Amino acid sequence: MNLKEIDITLEKDILALKEMEFEAFKDGAIDYWVIKPIIRHGKVLKFEINNNIVGFVELIKSWDNNNSVYIFSLMIGKKMQNLGYGKKMLSKLIEYLDKENINIVSLTVSPDNKKAIHIYEKYGFVKQELLKNEYGNNIDRISMQLKIKK
Ligand SMILES: CC(C)(COP(=O)(O)OP(=O)(O)OC[C@H]1O[C@@H](n2cnc3c(N)ncnc32)[C@H](O)[C@@H]1OP(=O)(O)O)[C@@H](O)C(=O)NCCC(=O)NCCS
Repeated sequence: MNLKEIDITLEKDILALKEMEFEAFKDGAIDYWVIKPIIRHGKVLKFEINNNIVGFVELIKSWDNNNSVYIFSLMIGKKMQNLGYGKKMLSKLIEYLDKENINIVSLTVSPDNKKAIHIYEKYGFVKQELLKNEYGNNIDRISMQLKIKK
């Protein structure tokens, strides 16, 4: 079980990410136009079990604070959900970010996404504020933040 950076030259990894994005987020899924810049200028990690990809995490580093990252997205493949992999991936991610000297991790999540909120809170993320209409009319988000203790 490991979490590692995806290689921009490995088309099959990028295709797997594109498919998982669509499965999870439909209209909100990102395509090459966003995936490629995030790989090149942010970071995309794949979570593998026995060499099979079960999930992805997309990260953007803060402009204002070198020790802060934003989780743009995090997902487990539909068929592999509810088996504990989301929690394992999140715990590996926090370990990875800690080693990278990150101490503030932020994200936003839909208020309806109770499962995601549950796992984020389980790993220490705290709700910050409700961002009304953040992604358009009536599409609210909750911002959450984790402080990694050093
Ligand atoms: C959110 C997501 C990453 C979670 O991964 P997962 O592998 O399905 O989750 P796990 O099996 O590791 O853990 C699920 C936990 O949520 C709990 N849970 C499940 N459904 C729940 C619900 N409706 N409300 C609250 N908690 C719920 C489970 O009981 C379990 O917690 P526990 O171990 O404390 O009992 C995954 O479902 C996913 O990729 N969803 C689609 C994309 C997405 O929404 N990403 C987050 C965007 S911010």
